[in-house]
Amino acid sequence: MTTTTHYKPADNLHPIHDLIRHRWSPRAFSSRSVEQEKLDSVFEAARWAASANNMQPWHFIYATNEQPEEHARLTSILFERNAMWAQKAPVLVLVVAKLYEAPGRETVSFYDVGMASGALVTQAVDLGLATHQMGGFDASKAREELNIPEGYVPLTMIAIGYPGHADDLSDDFRERELAPRVRKEQKDFVFQGRWNG
Ligand SMILES: Cc1cc2nc3c(=O)[nH]c(=O)nc-3n(C[C@H](O)[C@H](O)[C@H](O)COP(=O)(O)O)c2cc1C
Repeated sequence: MTTTTHYKPADNLHPIHDLIRHRWSPRAFSSRSVEQEKLDSVFEAARWAASANNMQPWHFIYATNEQPEEHARLTSILFERNAMWAQKAPVLVLVVAKLYEAPGRETVSFYDVGMASGALVTQAVDLGLATHQMGGFDASKAREELNIPEGYVPLTMIAIGYPGHADDLSDDFRERELAPRVRKEQKDFVFQGRWNG
């Protein structure tokens, strides 16, 4: 039996938009290439994110499975545990933030790049694509291998592709692939009026 993995919607307690409900982070990707128009759209969604003073500090370096050398270079930046499954994703993206120069404002640039990445992964759902963001990669190696200049910080990587089948994963990854998605309750992070109010 082949287990399809592309449907693992949020078990939401209140109504939310389907695009949010259906986004999740699989490890099984199909080898099917992603059309360039779709990639253009996911980066376009990022382009239209909000940012402080409209500074747009986000940068994306990507490679597809049609550029094996570049794809392998991005794969080599991932920590091994991520590379094991993410190397099969047809598109790999490195997300880079330009640091805002005013002292103490670095976190604002990170916030803005998170906004853009959120738009990117949400747009991907609308196009039938799966995404999996990864903090597990070697940022120093990324900087060296991809010529990232000072003042820019590699933040995350994102695997993008069509959903694959859980059966193609190793046992431990398959188990996680099929496990229920869990979340904290709103009362643990939404406060009315004051902290823990
Ligand atoms: C910034 C960030 C870093 C992440 N790093 C990794 C990672 O290195 N490896 C991995 O397998 N998943 C990684 N994830 C995926 C999370 O584990 C996943 O989003 C979380 O468990 C919630 O599951 P869901 O995305 O399916 O809702 C990361 C997600 C984010 C947003």
